[in-house]
Amino acid sequence: MIDQIHTVRDGALHRLAAATSSDDVRAVELEVLGKKGALTDLKAGLGKLATIEEKKEAGRALNDAATQVADALQLRLGEFRRAERAVQLEAERVDLTEVMRRPGRGHAHVVTQAWQRLEDVFVGLGFQVAEGPDVETDWYNFEALNMPANHPARSMHDTFYVEHGTPGSTVLRTHTSPVQIRVMQDVPPPIYMIMPGRVFRNETTDATHLAVFHQLEGLVIDRGITLADLAGTIEAFTRAFFGEGFTSRLRPSYFPFTEPSAEFDIRTPSGEWLELGGCGMVHPNVLRAGGLDPEEWSGFAFGFGIDRMAKERHGIGDVREMYSNDIRFIEQF
Ligand code: PHE
Repeated sequence: MIDQIHTVRDGALHRLAAATSSDDVRAVELEVLGKKGALTDLKAGLGKLATIEEKKEAGRALNDAATQVADALQLRLGEFRRAERAVQLEAERVDLTEVMRRPGRGHAHVVTQAWQRLEDVFVGLGFQVAEGPDVETDWYNFEALNMPANHPARSMHDTFYVEHGTPGSTVLRTHTSPVQIRVMQDVPPPIYMIMPGRVFRNETTDATHLAVFHQLEGLVIDRGITLADLAGTIEAFTRAFFGEGFTSRLRPSYFPFTEPSAEFDIRTPSGEWLELGGCGMVHPNVLRAGGLDPEEWSGFAFGFGIDRMAKERHGIGDVREMYSNDIRFIEQF
């Protein structure tokens, strides 16, 4: 019996030494120490031994063998647990380096930058800044600007109407010119004001047109203001914003709210002419709508697209790209 015990023990220790996984170790445990294990079987056979002495000796040998196998088993199991845990940890490891990288610093959008620079230039020329609402009444957007209902010039503005009040009475402003009226009503002259803001046109977008864009309106009301003041202001602005070597010109045009009216262009140092915006002397009907006496006050107004300015300044081919929200494009400016 002693020999049998030693054979089982040595076999078990040998298998444990050769085990390659915790599953191998558990198999040995089950087959040697388990309910139907080899040592358990031998233990059951103790009673069949003849003498007390033999029983004692075999019992001690069984206990010793069981302890040795159990100890070796725990040792191996511990080793495999540590190794298996290391493998699991590696597999479940979360890569935190992405999170730890500092987020990049943003900056103002290219159109916002143009807007801010334009404000700076005009404030430098002595202008103040005002803003008006995006949603306007028909009266401010058209009527007060000398465009009564059915005026042909209204068809130049493809208007978005807002369902509010009597049909057709509320619009998304098609230009910043309605703010001229609001400023005249609110601020006693002399007025030297710019009015930047968002405007809306119900038209198909393309490389040079957006349905939602930005304009900067200018309004000067004082005594004895002439067309020469308008031309001089446009020229001073052109040099201040675009730099030396740029000049401007006025070209006769038509707007219902100015008389006379003009388009203004700028000439780049390479001799190219770019159309920038509209301008003119404020029409007497517009002064009256703003609550001013045309016999006492005169003035000029101008308006141009801010998005256009950003586009020209940076040589952007398609205005729509500025609003594509593609960070790779927008972070260049
Ligand atoms: N409001 C005109 C437009 O949107 C521009 C303009 C402003 C013209 C002021 C004359 C005076 O086209």
